[in-house]
Amino acid sequence: MAQSIATVRTVKGLRSQVAHWRQTGDAIALVPTMGALHAGHLSLITIAKEYAKRVVASIFVNPTQFGPKEDFKRYPRDEAGDLGKFAQAGVDLVFIPATEEMYPQGFATRVSVPSLTEDLCGAARPNHFEGVATIVTKLFLQCAPDVAVFGEKDYQQLLVIKRLVRDLNIPVEIIAGPIVREQDGLALSSRNAYLSTAERNTAPILHQVLSEVARALASGEGCDAASSAARFKLEGKGFRVDYVAIRDQETLAPLSGPIRGPARVMGAVYLGSTRLIDNVPTALKNR
Ligand code: PAJ
Repeated sequence: MAQSIATVRTVKGLRSQVAHWRQTGDAIALVPTMGALHAGHLSLITIAKEYAKRVVASIFVNPTQFGPKEDFKRYPRDEAGDLGKFAQAGVDLVFIPATEEMYPQGFATRVSVPSLTEDLCGAARPNHFEGVATIVTKLFLQCAPDVAVFGEKDYQQLLVIKRLVRDLNIPVEIIAGPIVREQDGLALSSRNAYLSTAERNTAPILHQVLSEVARALASGEGCDAASSAARFKLEGKGFRVDYVAIRDQETLAPLSGPIRGPARVMGAVYLGSTRLIDNVPTALKNR
């Protein structure tokens, strides 16, 4: 039998439940999502439960982080399925606001973090991170959690959120969850559902190639040579490459020559019209 789970659709409802938990001294964790849940999302719930007695998850397909030609309309939505998965994972409350609840008539404020969002995914998706930063700031102010958990899958997003929390003195601790992968290495993503069978068979090569770059860097190869070789390999396998980049893992500053400290190998590609992103740390081998 499907487990039942508490849901709220208004900021007022969310605040009143959170206030009740605060009165009893319970710590609160927030896990923001856009739904279409998979094991990557659910791993963040497991982490959240290690940090707080009460876990709030949100489901909101945020229109402001999609470009005009992007997949907002066809983004997978499965509220009933998602609620079942959250119940199973032990979420205490699911916040599912309507668009008008988050963006009422006349909404005008934007949160932006320019230095971290001008390149990598920000270059191909101009207003994406502003949309993310704005909605995540709102969720933090609406829920006022002690901790919030985000996946390393969206590595640039994670750093943007860490920075906005620091810059705006938002009292929430940001916890990073490792990337959950399919057995063949493909990072789980709600967008993997768009891949044809042939594309799905090709997709794991992205992780393989980024991991090869990480190994080459660990053995002293220069960043430029390693990233050019990766781009060449990916194109040969039928990917359209947006970027392969080797960046400082804290600041996302571009690196050149042999690396001297931990770095992140980041990639974004298209298979047909589907955009896939992934990243691996350089410090760890064979991941
Ligand atoms: P969404 O793509 O639904 O992802 C929600 C959270 O799950 C993000 O923190 C993301 O990094 C994490 N995640 C996705 N795939 C993962 C995987 N394979 N392993 C580990 N974590 C994974 O990211 C968003 O939604 C939105 O931008 C959001 C932050 C909710 C703001 O709208």
